Amino acid sequence: MRRTIGSSGLTVAPIGLGGMPMSIHGRPSEADALRTIHAALDAGMDLIDTADVYCLDDNDIGHNERLIAKALRERADTTGVVVATKGGLERPAGDWTTNGRPDHLRRACDKSLAALGVTQIQLYQLHAPDDDVPFADSVGALAELRADGKIAHIGLSNVSVEEIEIARAIVPIVSVQNRCNPFDRTAWTDGVVQHCTTHGIAFLPYSPVGGGRGKAKVATDATLLGVGQRHGVSPFQVALAWLLAKSPVMLPIPGASKVASAVDSAAAMKLTLTEADLAELDRAFPT
Ligand SMILES: NC(=O)c1ccc[n+]([C@@H]2O[C@H](COP(=O)([O-])OP(=O)(O)OC[C@H]3O[C@@H](n4cnc5c(N)ncnc54)[C@H](OP(=O)(O)O)[C@@H]3O)[C@@H](O)[C@H]2O)c1
Repeated sequence: MRRTIGSSGLTVAPIGLGGMPMSIHGRPSEADALRTIHAALDAGMDLIDTADVYCLDDNDIGHNERLIAKALRERADTTGVVVATKGGLERPAGDWTTNGRPDHLRRACDKSLAALGVTQIQLYQLHAPDDDVPFADSVGALAELRADGKIAHIGLSNVSVEEIEIARAIVPIVSVQNRCNPFDRTAWTDGVVQHCTTHGIAFLPYSPVGGGRGKAKVATDATLLGVGQRHGVSPFQVALAWLLAKSPVMLPIPGASKVASAVDSAAAMKLTLTEADLAELDRAFPT
């Protein structure tokens, strides 16, 4: 039932919580966000995905990390909870821009350590390659952070198979996080899911139920609704269970800003789709 995060030795429940919607434009009150994080943990999620840039703009860096740290401080026992954060982007005036320069990554990591209130980050992911910085330089900076003990394990995000291999030649890579959901299947057509499966690298599909804009598509899709009706569950759970069934390295991280979303997504861990369900879903969403 539990899944490993690549070669890290860390095991987590198969569905994690994506923290982004709790800190970007349209975010809930802090009290509601804290309730959502607690509900997710109570429902069995124990991987939380965050980033320094889950915030409104550069004056608000670390908002989501501080929120998660606060929620975890409120709990009696956080044993086994894995918080994965990221560095390598900036939010000038609320925009999203890349900065994969080693000096930026070192500063960003120090800020994330402070925001999370930890001495070591369990999983630190390069948020995205920076076209203006050799990819190997960005990965090299993370390798140094790992050697310094500031981060335990390294992941990548928004990368190609070629970039995964460049990185793996420098340092062990335990996870890859790319966009992936029934309506965006690029992670199969570009070979990244297969590559991660072959090499035992955890694959964290982001926006697994379509993202802020695409979630309405999941909510109204006839196939997802039909399979969900047979099991008495939401189409969101069907999308998540379908992703889980696609590969043993899959670890979807659905976002939530509401308690109900987090609780519903967590329930997908218990949903077992039949061979007939999976065949129907694969026909609707060929990979
Ligand atoms: N690495 C990257 O570049 C990158 C990019 C985007 C996202 N991410 C990560 O991936 C996570 C997930 O992506 P996402 O938040 O963009 O999109 P998502 O997981 O597809 O979720 C989008 C929205 O769908 C709603 N939702 C989720 N599960 C639901 C359920 N079971 N029932 C009803 N509604 C549900 C939530 O709405 P409510 O807010 O109303 O609860 C959520 O905000 C992010 O939180 C972030 O941690 C990473």
